[in-house]
Amino acid sequence: MSEKNVSDGAALWHGRFDAAPAEELMAYTESLSFDKRLWPDDIFGSKAHVTMLISVGLMSKVDGENVLAALDAVGNEFASGSFVFEASDEDIHTAIERRVTQIAGEPGGRIHTGRSRNDQVATAVRLWCKREVAVVRARVLEFVDTLESRAVEADIQQIRLPGYTHVQHAQPVLLSHHLRAHSWSLLRDASRLADTLQRLDVSPLGAGALAGSSLPINPEVSAKEMGFATTFANSLDAVSDRDFIAEILFDIALLGVHLSRIGEEWVLWTSAEFGFATLNDAYATGSSMLPQKKNADIAELARGKAGRLIGNLTGLLAMLKGLPLAYNRDLQEDKEPLFDSVDQVRRALVALNGMIATATFNVANMTKGADAEALVATDLAEWLVQRGMPFREAHAVVGKVVRDAIASGTPMVDIVRAHPQLGADAASLFVPGVAVANRRSLGAAGPDAAAAQKTRLDAEISRAKKG
Ligand code: ARG
Repeated sequence: MSEKNVSDGAALWHGRFDAAPAEELMAYTESLSFDKRLWPDDIFGSKAHVTMLISVGLMSKVDGENVLAALDAVGNEFASGSFVFEASDEDIHTAIERRVTQIAGEPGGRIHTGRSRNDQVATAVRLWCKREVAVVRARVLEFVDTLESRAVEADIQQIRLPGYTHVQHAQPVLLSHHLRAHSWSLLRDASRLADTLQRLDVSPLGAGALAGSSLPINPEVSAKEMGFATTFANSLDAVSDRDFIAEILFDIALLGVHLSRIGEEWVLWTSAEFGFATLNDAYATGSSMLPQKKNADIAELARGKAGRLIGNLTGLLAMLKGLPLAYNRDLQEDKEPLFDSVDQVRRALVALNGMIATATFNVANMTKGADAEALVATDLAEWLVQRGMPFREAHAVVGKVVRDAIASGTPMVDIVRAHPQLGADAASLFVPGVAVANRRSLGAAGPDAAAAQKTRLDAEISRAKKG
């Protein structure tokens, strides 16, 4: 293909066509509008390809260096914002090849030797994922750091709050314990992302359109040049595999679900009814009509945007389902959900991080809920168990105490004190803070178990940061 033809506005693949592409075709099939952000990856991959071509003698050193310099020049144009797209640019890959050929002249026409857009696209997307998914993972770990520093702070005052099941008061728990529950789920997200990153670290470059090449290319050279851990073994698989995108979208969907649960919690906590936390003004929004409103919009959107993250995953899987080998244009539809999920979850992580880092915990409201007498019920039953009573029987005895308290309007503690099987000793369980302090089994919500949990959590965090 000559430079002239390209500059004339024809598509790079125009050779066998009599007519120029219809405007509607270009409008419908283009991917430039969303894949232009792959420019650094396409240039990086193209440079590795050229280096390989030089190393095996498919490009002369002079031509190769000329093309490498042109690729750098194109990179500078993108970085400085001076790159000019042409109407014939279908995607970022054709745009870069077109511009390289304009700058380098005839040697530019050699850049696509032994390469197809099919392996080129798969390469660029994997490179993008390696970089961007690592950033998502780093944001997850930053968020865990924030949760943990708030947990440590909460433990100084031994802040306790009611723990819930079915959104009903259940048993008191330390605030640090509650915050760490989220850290554990986020650390699993970080671990899943690390697994995904490891599995996607395979170079598909050299697979060509689908079957490799008759030319003496060496895919291992370009793979090494790009820093991939390994090289594809099967060219058909290399160009049609999008498992790594499905995995990323699942990892992010589940991460998004975790964030949505945190979001819902903060919507409740900042409500007048709970009053457990107050947002910093910088992380809250107002109402256009109701002057008194202070809304937790970050928390609500963390909840709401989980829907699209799940949608991006199911959309991709539906697109992949039933696709015959090898490349099909359907695969171009992998990018928008990928970019969207990565962008959205990154913003969610940063926003929630800031929101929680700057919020104030309303210790009095949390403590009041934690010390409500109904939350001592299980401890009373366990007190009887420790004195030999079968748990089922103890459950019934305390159940009757609760029923009598409700029916007579008498505080539970008074009924317990006067109770023949309970008495003053059991009544001491109502002293504020005693119930939470008594939860000391492995992984439990009280202060004695907290130290061991923290040791494990810190070890997991530092392992995650290393890997
Ligand atoms: N923009 C396309 C994509 O993202 C490039 C691959 C097109 N390849 C082809 N043979 N038409 O998948």
